[in-house]
Amino acid sequence: MTTITTSHSIVSGPPPPVIKAAKNATHGHHRKLSIDYYAKTCPEVEKLVASVTSEQFKAAPAIASATIRLFFHDCFGCDASILISSKLGSKELAERDASQNKNLPIEAFEGINKAKALVEGKCLGVVSCTDILTISTRDYVHLAGGPYYEVKKGKWDGKISKASRVPSNIPHTNATVDELLKLFNSKGLNMEDLVVLSGAHTIGYSHCKYIINRIYNYKGTKQPQPNIDPKLLQALRMYCPHHGGNEDIVVPFDVTTPYTFDHAYYGNLEKNMGILITDQALYLDPRTKPIVQSLSKDKQKFFKAFAQAMEKMGNIHLKRGRKHGEMRKDCSSHM
Ligand code: HEM
Repeated sequence: MTTITTSHSIVSGPPPPVIKAAKNATHGHHRKLSIDYYAKTCPEVEKLVASVTSEQFKAAPAIASATIRLFFHDCFGCDASILISSKLGSKELAERDASQNKNLPIEAFEGINKAKALVEGKCLGVVSCTDILTISTRDYVHLAGGPYYEVKKGKWDGKISKASRVPSNIPHTNATVDELLKLFNSKGLNMEDLVVLSGAHTIGYSHCKYIINRIYNYKGTKQPQPNIDPKLLQALRMYCPHHGGNEDIVVPFDVTTPYTFDHAYYGNLEKNMGILITDQALYLDPRTKPIVQSLSKDKQKFFKAFAQAMEKMGNIHLKRGRKHGEMRKDCSSHM
């Protein structure tokens, strides 16, 4: 059993319960992923990253939701390829410049680069950007009030970052549950993972453009989607006028506890107070509804399931070793 001596100090009070990583390790001849992968080569890695994440969170807590989303968008091919900047003059844009990734706040990228620079200063060329992104994301989940879970390390960075690969890999805001399931299944994630991971919308914001159709012209009916809680609808329409609104306005995903990583997201869905079509769909669909109901009743159940699903998502398209991956010194450019 591994003991964790990592970023517990980043929050005051007694150490939180640690959610243990699953035992199954990866196969092949490369070193297996493990919690203490860097025990010899960079034993301080989690502490170094924590010093950056805790400082960033204190200065601007919105970095938490921004980084969790960054991790999600990277993870449908989890290899830090989203951190690569497009090359000047190159014909093909990098993943981060795809329209689906345009709203990812710059601060989230900068936070990862900062942590990487600190780690490089102590352990040159040893720790991958993917591992730093995974550790940082876990720190932010925890700093925002969510579970503290162990992170298995030893992933390498991807060599390919192409904007053209993004559209088919990131869910649309008006996707049906069938479409979401198809995408998640194609990544090895199941229906429960879909519902559990969507619970990340317990913090963070959505720009109005993602909900305009839902609140004014659902499926071309010139009416809002039926069933939206009337008070929520009114509030959303105040923030997001049909025409001429400020493009930068955002609305919180979790209308009850917007800044805390908790399970209120599921309770909101039960009250028809989901924000995106895809959020509310999880309660409207009879297949996913029971999962929503069980998570809304039990915060610890959600926390445990979330930690496990994040690990599972983090292993999608896993790269290990020089043949498939690289170990970038600067997360934003190839070696
Ligand atoms: C299931 C399908 C999903 C859809 C359609 C979806 C869509 C969106 C959209 C449209 C936004 C608003 C972005 C903006 O306006 O800047 C957003 C934000 C966010 N998403 Fe998702 N998302 C999904 C699943 C997930 C998953 C699986 C995670 C993580 C595990 C996640 C984490 C987040 C977070 C934390 C934010 C807030 C970002 C911020 O405040 O900066 N989402 N999502």
